[in-house]
Amino acid sequence: DPCATSPEVSAFNLRISCEISFKLFHKRSNETDPLSPETLQEVSARLRKDLLRGLGKHSHHKAPVKMLPTFVRATPDGTEKGDFLALDLGGTNFRVLHVRVEEEAQKVLKMDSQICAIPQEMMLGTGEQLFDHIATCLGDFLESHNLKCQTLPLGFTFSFPCEQLEIDKSILIRWTKGFNCSGVEGKDVVQLLKEAIQRTGDYHIGSVAMVNDTVGTMMSCGYKDQSCEIGMIIGTGTNACYMEEIKNVKRIEGEDGRMCINTEWGGFGDDGSLDDILTEFDVEVDKTSINPGVHIFEKMISGMYLGEIVRLVLVKMTKDKLLFKGQISEALGTSGRFETKFISEIEDGLENAKKILTELGLDWGLVDASVVCLVCDTISSRSAYLCAAALATLVNRIRNNRKLDHLKTTVGVDGTVYRKHPTFSSKLQKAVRLLAPQCDITFLVSEDGSGKGAAMVTAVAQRLAHQSRLLEESDGEDDDDEEEEEGQ
Ligand code: BGC
Repeated sequence: DPCATSPEVSAFNLRISCEISFKLFHKRSNETDPLSPETLQEVSARLRKDLLRGLGKHSHHKAPVKMLPTFVRATPDGTEKGDFLALDLGGTNFRVLHVRVEEEAQKVLKMDSQICAIPQEMMLGTGEQLFDHIATCLGDFLESHNLKCQTLPLGFTFSFPCEQLEIDKSILIRWTKGFNCSGVEGKDVVQLLKEAIQRTGDYHIGSVAMVNDTVGTMMSCGYKDQSCEIGMIIGTGTNACYMEEIKNVKRIEGEDGRMCINTEWGGFGDDGSLDDILTEFDVEVDKTSINPGVHIFEKMISGMYLGEIVRLVLVKMTKDKLLFKGQISEALGTSGRFETKFISEIEDGLENAKKILTELGLDWGLVDASVVCLVCDTISSRSAYLCAAALATLVNRIRNNRKLDHLKTTVGVDGTVYRKHPTFSSKLQKAVRLLAPQCDITFLVSEDGSGKGAAMVTAVAQRLAHQSRLLEESDGEDDDDEEEEEGQ
């Protein structure tokens, strides 16, 4: 236990730990263990209902969990190939990539990539400024890598909730994660990108595929492991996608086959369904965010918010004279100053905790340091368990859809919280196994899903277009019909 220093400190920690847990879950104080499997099962059951509402033709418009069709109907089959461009907007940075998919080697290679910073003012400026910046970065990249004369297909990872009408037509529903550019909500983002590229008058791009980062993550793992049918992100924001039976997606025509659905589970709780597990700290984080009232589940889980939740708990405990001799430093009193990465560092070892507390200008003692560690552990564990409950809902749903007693599946995962936190992934995995005992889940950390995955989506879209062209061309030819039957 990295939080414990001596038996006395351990005993003290235990008491504080109970106190923190109690305060965090005060509305459910009838339960002794606030994150009991029963509570998580209940959360999972609520999400199960919300998935159905999101998929329904008439319930969709009011559903907090949007369940957005992605027009990705197939995962990779290993025959995709070619050169692609990828753009990645929505995590910590904006990136441009040149990706090569090699069939023979079954590999997706990142040839080159470049990071372009998006200044804070731009995240809150006009849409035109943002897309002009993106188009200029792409132009510079093509120039410096001698790619300007080629017209390459482009995968655009745009990690915000979008109502996708086709693979290259995608309307932004709303900004999340600190972005709030004017004039983009309700518009087709692919069109905005194309217009900005035209304004540069400098280069051309081929066909475009729009991709949510969860989908990119699933697809990038799918090349390696063809049973990868779920993509999950726990980074600045959180979300997941999975392969759903088309017949269950009531807003889409057709009965056969599957389509990848972007759940946008960050919006879970937006209709008040999680109010009984929200704490005063969650309510405060939501109130002071730039999008109050929405993405409630995301605000309990993802990297954009975890640090701030911990800070608020520490401030409260200090005011209650449980920490730092009751003295709040200027840094601790300032919103945003306790970064989410501190949580990982602090839980990695008490020495880190001491260093960070000193940097935050706090007058700490040994007990303070280990209590801070416990607070971090409480908040990050809650995040991991809530994610586990949500993921369990998805795997259980896939298993039921296929009427299987036992499901073996793979989840492609990405995001700084999942990758960098010392115990997050193991806690999440353990809890999912508990909540979905009939599912055998492999977790694959995606290697650059937002970049390579976007290229993969574009490649699969091309393969399918090519295949259906071939089918059309061979229409009416008897030999082919026979072959087709044989193959069935
Ligand atoms: C967005 C999702 C995205 C997730 C992870 C959320 O805020 O709404 O579209 O997948 O963040 O990046």
